[in-house]
Amino acid sequence: MAGGIDWDGLRAVAIEAATHAYAPYSHFHVGAAGLVDDGRVVRGANVENASYGLGLCAECGLVSALASSGGGRLVAVVTVAGDGQPVMPCGRCRQLLWEHGGPECLVDGDGTPRPMREILPGAFDERAMEGRTED
Ligand code: THU
Repeated sequence: MAGGIDWDGLRAVAIEAATHAYAPYSHFHVGAAGLVDDGRVVRGANVENASYGLGLCAECGLVSALASSGGGRLVAVVTVAGDGQPVMPCGRCRQLLWEHGGPECLVDGDGTPRPMREILPGAFDERAMEGRTED
């Protein structure tokens, strides 16, 4: 346990989640695990599609699990490949994690947990739209 976050435990959940990946096209299995601010741990695995562009990343599954199990804010996220080694979230998934964790959410995508404000600097979020929408 480091800084109150059980990174080894989260990594173990992500590795287990990766075993449920559906990746018959890339053969690249990914698992993600997230600690929620109420102590829950949510997870996801990538789910591909014959229409390649429709594939869902592991982090998509994770945020869906977050919402469907009660919502809340992500505090820490670990993403791994099927080999157990870290994987940096793709650009789209950084945006997803920002939405549900914000700038202080810690993400371990390369073995060193870092806050989202470093992983997605200059992020777009709802604040950019405040007072600027038409009618
Ligand atoms: N993938 C994820 O699940 N998360 C990421 O952040 C990076 C990429 C998946 C998508 C696809 O199924 C496979 O990895 C190869 O790109």
